[in-house]
Amino acid sequence: MAAEEQADIVVVGGISTDFLVQGPRLPGPGDRVEGHLFLESLGGKGANGAVGAARLGARVALIGRVGMDARGLALLEQLEGEGVDIRSVGRDAGEMTGVVLEMVDEAGRTQSLASPGANHCMKVADVMRAEERITAARVLLAQLEVPLDVVSAAVHIARAAGTRVVLDPAPAMDLPEDLLEAIHVIRPNAKEAEALTGVEVRDRDSARRAAENLLRRGVGGAVVASPDGSLVLWSEGELWLPDLALERADTTGAGDAFSAALAVAIAEGESLTEAARFAHEASALATLRLGALGGLPTRDQVESRLARLGPSGEWPESPHHP
Ligand SMILES: Nc1ncnc2c1ncn2[C@@H]1O[C@H](COP(=O)(O)OP(=O)(O)O)[C@@H](O)[C@H]1O
Ligand SMILES: [Mg+2]
Repeated sequence: MAAEEQADIVVVGGISTDFLVQGPRLPGPGDRVEGHLFLESLGGKGANGAVGAARLGARVALIGRVGMDARGLALLEQLEGEGVDIRSVGRDAGEMTGVVLEMVDEAGRTQSLASPGANHCMKVADVMRAEERITAARVLLAQLEVPLDVVSAAVHIARAAGTRVVLDPAPAMDLPEDLLEAIHVIRPNAKEAEALTGVEVRDRDSARRAAENLLRRGVGGAVVASPDGSLVLWSEGELWLPDLALERADTTGAGDAFSAALAVAIAEGESLTEAARFAHEASALATLRLGALGGLPTRDQVESRLARLGPSGEWPESPHHP
């Protein structure tokens, strides 16, 4: 996007290099397993969210930090190549660019170890420098891979300006009430929902209990991912989105795709139900390819899936039960 252009969506979050190896099984402690596939790509939930929203056609600006190293520079180039405005991404002279080592087995189960590097050195001042951009945007998309005071500063600026906040609360942790009260829509997976609410999310009913807890604490709406589908809850109703029957490669980044698509649809003025349906299709598409970034779908891909939905808004296939 052109330098003077205003962003519809501002993302504040982590940027890292993802190193992924796929093998027959995940190693246990002390094990060594021979893998058969290696992928290196741009990653981090901030970057995934920004690229995810840009591929869906939104004008996106990212607030974050990388190191002065070669990896940091390469990631910035890739973000620009995806059309993300990186003027608010700082370069830290004293820290390396974040890195995530990810392992995937043949069933798509994953395990990862991260070294956040520059992401953890972000300061509230980084957000304050981008205050006007948050104020002028329609949606702020955030996750929890950068310090909580940084996320909180961005969220409160957004709240005061009427910019809607979509929060993907990963990695899992509990959050202060003042932050929850400022959230338009929160999208935890099962583990994150449990860390936030204490409710063990196993199915639709337990997902609803977790979502109800979040609404009582002030969020406008919640989308809680469970092992067999996502429960969308807001003050006036609920929507159940069963997982779709697909040949999935891995679900890593599928949640990031969901949050990005939710942010895009909300920025376009869609209701939460419409936004969640759109996001559900984007998320399902993201499971088809290995790695987070490669799976983030384009607008055309999501729309052609939506166009094939039956008149009831349901997929003709039976829901997927893992
Ligand atoms: N078959 C499927 N159909 C639709 N969505 C799916 C399917 N399998 C997984 N998902 C989605 O994948 C997402 C995984 O979320 P999450 O655990 O947050 O992933 P990540 O943080 O790695 O992006 C959920 O939103 C879930 O609904
Ligand atoms: Mg997630």
